[in-house]
Amino acid sequence: MKKKLTRFDLQNMKGAGKKAVWVTAYDFWTAQFAEQAGMDMLLVGDSLGMCIYGYEGTVPVTMDQCIYHSEAVRRGAPSTFIIGDMPFLSYQVNTDEAVRNAGRFFKEAKVDAIKLEGGRRVCPQIRAISDGGMLVMGHIGLTPQSSGQLGGFKAQGRTVEAALELMEDARAVQEAGAFSILVEAVPPEVCKIIRDDLTIPVYSIGAGVDADGQVMICSDILGIFQAFTAKFVKKYANLGAETLKAMEAYADDVRKGKFPEAQHTYNMVEGELPKLKTALKKIKSARKK
Ligand code: KIV
Repeated sequence: MKKKLTRFDLQNMKGAGKKAVWVTAYDFWTAQFAEQAGMDMLLVGDSLGMCIYGYEGTVPVTMDQCIYHSEAVRRGAPSTFIIGDMPFLSYQVNTDEAVRNAGRFFKEAKVDAIKLEGGRRVCPQIRAISDGGMLVMGHIGLTPQSSGQLGGFKAQGRTVEAALELMEDARAVQEAGAFSILVEAVPPEVCKIIRDDLTIPVYSIGAGVDADGQVMICSDILGIFQAFTAKFVKKYANLGAETLKAMEAYADDVRKGKFPEAQHTYNMVEGELPKLKTALKKIKSARKK
């Protein structure tokens, strides 16, 4: 069985220039494949709102949904470092709620860390959760839970002023006690500046190659998610098309009587079939009387 990474392993990987690779997972079987593929980490992202539940964004996602999916992912990947994603309104209201909800991920789903979105404005929550003995990952740049404020799912940090604001946010998140930070949809130059500025690992999604590792959404790299494709996505498979092909072929076979075939059925116990036929004959003649 592979050894689960710790925060210190992840920190040492940054020191050694070794990139951490991670992906989102929302269910048991994806988690199993991801662990077999040797992922360093898994994120049970609140992107499950779009990828699993068909919501338009992440805002409707609840704590309970995140916990159920984190539990399934833990069962599928017992030896992988798992991050639970705190959904909208599970940490924004106050630090007490933030600590209690973060704690649920650890107690109920056995995650190794939680992630929450925001820079300076969520530092009290990062500090409080961290003081509660839990590992926190920050998330800055495009923060989907506040996409309304950002004017949509748009790249961030593209002007000098915005880039410097992001740098301040990243430093504050580190100071507040986060063990790592995710930077989303930011020009690569800005992510590199942040990576070089911080001592904790800085991971990228859509923020270029100069980061301490990369995360992608599983439904994107597998070619399952149909609603839209962000610029930063690379599809490594087209399971959407494969799934459609398989569903159509199955439906066609059933309609034409080609499935199931003999090999998909069970034989009666040896010698039982003639006895069944005799029994049926008796039943039928009794019914005629
Ligand atoms: O919810 C999610 O999947 C995320 C991604 C940006 C990695 O936070």
